Amino acid sequence: MCGIVGIVGRNDATEVLLNGLEKLEYRGYDSAGIYVSQGLNKGSLVKVKGKIADLRAAVHQEDVGNIGIGHTRWATHGQPSKANAHPQSSADGRFYLVHNGVLENYESLKAQYLNDIKLQSQTDTEVAVNLVATLVQKEKMSVLAAWQKMVQLVKGSYAFVLIDRENPQQLYVAKNKSPLLIGTGATFNGVCSDSLALLNVTNSFIELHDGDTAVISSQEIKIFGQKNEAVKRKTYSVTLNQDDLGKGTYPYYMLKEINEQPAVLRFLEKTYLNETGKAVFDSRLLDQLAQAEKIYFVAAGTSYHAGLVGKALIEKLAQIPVSVELASEFGYHLPILAKNPFFIFLSQSGETADSRQVLLKIKKLGYPSLTITNVDHSTLSREADFTVLLHAGPEIAVASTKAYTAQITVVALLAQALRQKLDPDVINFDLKQQLSLAANGIQTLIDQQELIEQLAKDYFSKTRNAFYIGRGQDYYASREAALKLKEISYIQTEGFAAGELKHGTISLIELGTPVIALITDPETADLTRGNLKEVEARGAHTLTIASENLAQSKDQIIVPQIDPLLSPLLTVIPAQLLAYFATIQRGYNVDQPRNLAKSVTVE
Ligand code: M6R
Repeated sequence: MCGIVGIVGRNDATEVLLNGLEKLEYRGYDSAGIYVSQGLNKGSLVKVKGKIADLRAAVHQEDVGNIGIGHTRWATHGQPSKANAHPQSSADGRFYLVHNGVLENYESLKAQYLNDIKLQSQTDTEVAVNLVATLVQKEKMSVLAAWQKMVQLVKGSYAFVLIDRENPQQLYVAKNKSPLLIGTGATFNGVCSDSLALLNVTNSFIELHDGDTAVISSQEIKIFGQKNEAVKRKTYSVTLNQDDLGKGTYPYYMLKEINEQPAVLRFLEKTYLNETGKAVFDSRLLDQLAQAEKIYFVAAGTSYHAGLVGKALIEKLAQIPVSVELASEFGYHLPILAKNPFFIFLSQSGETADSRQVLLKIKKLGYPSLTITNVDHSTLSREADFTVLLHAGPEIAVASTKAYTAQITVVALLAQALRQKLDPDVINFDLKQQLSLAANGIQTLIDQQELIEQLAKDYFSKTRNAFYIGRGQDYYASREAALKLKEISYIQTEGFAAGELKHGTISLIELGTPVIALITDPETADLTRGNLKEVEARGAHTLTIASENLAQSKDQIIVPQIDPLLSPLLTVIPAQLLAYFATIQRGYNVDQPRNLAKSVTVE
């Protein structure tokens, strides 16, 4: 939520900021702004309601400088507008601040310190920047002291970057709960919410910890810990292919990412399976997992749906009970936990605030944890005991696609490793072969885009609502299929347990309501077909996605044969494509659906 970038020591600061914001746009896209300085007390503030393309268009030739800050916003306090866009400035015009996060006590701080100031926006950020100005003016503090005092006064989450017009050679930085990195170069330094923002100028980054503040000039980086003591933080390199960051020849990132799935699966198979088909992970991780009486998956959204599929994989393959928990609920309503619990955090971004609050709680209780994530060095990765990477490459479209199939694949590999550890003689699940079938099957489905585009037109061009139904793994895949359709096409869609419809929800079925059934499990196929008949009798417009061995002549989409445990890897593909085409046909932006952001760093 919200993307921040700052740079000092580059004559092309404006371009670095705009380029960085384009890379961060997935984090929020309702308004944006930059401040660049042309020297003492001279600078340009450009803000727009809209996207980075609108910001770029609003920037003039004279808006240049060698230091600046930029922000792309996902509104929390105050609607998307130019006044609420960042940077926010202090009433005296001296300080400019960008912020990602939520300040819980901004109203009381305003009442206590800023009675004489008329605020121009509805943001919590404007309170923070005016606090710094007030502490400097009235309490005669140095800017650094005021900065560190402000950070102590605010409660909540923040990644902050500030510029002082009276000393425009340095950036003041602070971080708590929201992600922020320092990017380093020989003659410049920068700061950003995600390394993607500065990757075209550096691949060397320093991680900041919660409670850190920093002062960054072109030549020097000073970092301070929670008690304002000087600290050193770890430097690391990011090796990402620049090609991964663009759309290539695809019209949308989502389509590119859907198409990348066969390659991601093959890469995961090569990475985590050796030549003999043995799944290879850190032996200390497997030791701890094997001792667990119960494994808890904690996640949100699509990652939660991947956890639901993962539960059956671990329970069937490794015979360890699994519970799948919504992070936003679990942390505040901890159930009675099993003895020796082990926690697995599933998170594409590794930054989700809901998941992180659970991780912090269970760490305090002394329980072991693993983060399965797509982003190395992300917060959840750094803070868990173990990390396993998804290796899916950057996922930029808000609607998650390749991260979901990568998560299921990695959990399957982990389940296989556990099974091999707990019962080395029993290897009757040929995961290598299954993953190869899955990768080929995904490609076969992607190649049916024309058919799926037509089905999207037939089923979704006019409807207000829709249902996906299934049983077992098909039900869990239905949950993800429904999320895909609703989040980008705005068709109200539910993923439902097929047998549960008749217990109430079937009353929503009207003439023409699309009901899409996923059928891949021989044990329940007939039952789900029976449920389809029930909704057809009430006027539903039904569509069937069935596996080869269970297909009937009228089924519209046939998915290649695979073990039913892994069928969501295939059934989700037509669902992703149906969502994609329905959204295009309805005239919406596939990659940037309204009200959403990719990385959800507020609770
Ligand atoms: O980065 P995470 O996997 O932790 O994100 C959790 C959810 O916000 C995310 O999966 C979201 O539901 C998807 N982007 C929706 O497609």
